[in-house]
Amino acid sequence: MLTKEQVIELLNPIEDPFLHTTFEKTGAIQEITIKEDKKHVSVKLAIGQTNTGEQMQLQQQVVNVLKRGGAATVGLRFEQLPDDVIATYQPTEEKQPTLLDGNTKFLAIASGKGGVGKSTVTVNLAVALARLGKKVGIVDADIYGFSVPDMMGVEKRPAVENEKIIPVERFGVKVISMGFFVEDNSPIIWRGPMLGKMLTSFFKEVEWGELDYLLLDLPPGTGDIALDVHSMLPSSKEIIVTTPHPTAAFVAARAGQMALQTEHEILGVIENMAYFESKVTGEKEYVFGQGGGEKLAEVLNTSVIGQLPLQQPFKEEGVFAPSVYQEDHPTGEIFKEIAQKVITSYE
Ligand SMILES: Nc1ncnc2c1ncn2[C@@H]1O[C@H](COP(=O)(O)OP(=O)(O)O)[C@@H](O)[C@H]1O
Ligand SMILES: [Mg+2]
Repeated sequence: MLTKEQVIELLNPIEDPFLHTTFEKTGAIQEITIKEDKKHVSVKLAIGQTNTGEQMQLQQQVVNVLKRGGAATVGLRFEQLPDDVIATYQPTEEKQPTLLDGNTKFLAIASGKGGVGKSTVTVNLAVALARLGKKVGIVDADIYGFSVPDMMGVEKRPAVENEKIIPVERFGVKVISMGFFVEDNSPIIWRGPMLGKMLTSFFKEVEWGELDYLLLDLPPGTGDIALDVHSMLPSSKEIIVTTPHPTAAFVAARAGQMALQTEHEILGVIENMAYFESKVTGEKEYVFGQGGGEKLAEVLNTSVIGQLPLQQPFKEEGVFAPSVYQEDHPTGEIFKEIAQKVITSYE
């Protein structure tokens, strides 16, 4: 007849059906009682989850093993393992929540056409949020026109550790760009499935750590690519960037409609290149027209959350980041106000 030691030896290699770890490691065996005369073995086991179909299967497996070992009858009782044991052996996929189900707030930056300052807004809003103490990441999802690394002066490429991509950090912002995965600026053709795979891996295979905000620089326009990217993103708020010219605003409105179609909530409109302010006289000139932002906001039932003048960042000795406005730059200050509005909008 079986001894306790033999029972332990027989059961130790069996795997917990939820933790995929042996009983030996989880310390599953709680009690063993053996009744020599009746050849009866009774065991109390602790497992990851009780009262499930998997438990029924496990029950069968344990009974078979013990009967083969010499028991005539087997009694089994189950209880749940302590939480800390479960946490330790929880399969990694479930233990490390991906960004998609964490507390990260997604904010997509879209525009009706290219060249209106979408990437400038993405980069500077991210930096402004970081300056306000937030943990921020950028996904440069403008698959043909990726420009975030250049704009921020990112020269490093992401490292890979434990099969995860480590984003490059600049000005306290973690950056992942399509541009990192393209050699020599060569053009790429993204087809639906490949595009989807790329975007998904940006969320799942990138080691973002904890993030408060993830900003997405979307492809411009309202074509297929833009729509695909839109629909592949998790639900997010969206900022629409336009210039003040009425026709630009008109095109941007279509981008806004697309956001609404894909159930992205529009946070507001940013009017870029809104005016040029003369350093000499302080006079504002509306070189690209006026009122486009207001009009767009009206159409999309939202508001203008910022108006940015035409201006370059200050020149800084030894800092290469051609499109990042300094904190004390007038445009940097406007971005801080916009960042504050963004934060408030999620509260
Ligand atoms: N407010 C601004 N003042 C001066 N230059 C700007 C401003 N906004 C954008 N630019 C410049 O205009 C060009 C297009 O901006 P970008 O952000 O790349 O647009 P998009 O991402 O919409 O294509 C870039 O060279 C950028 O540096
Ligand atoms: Mg861009």
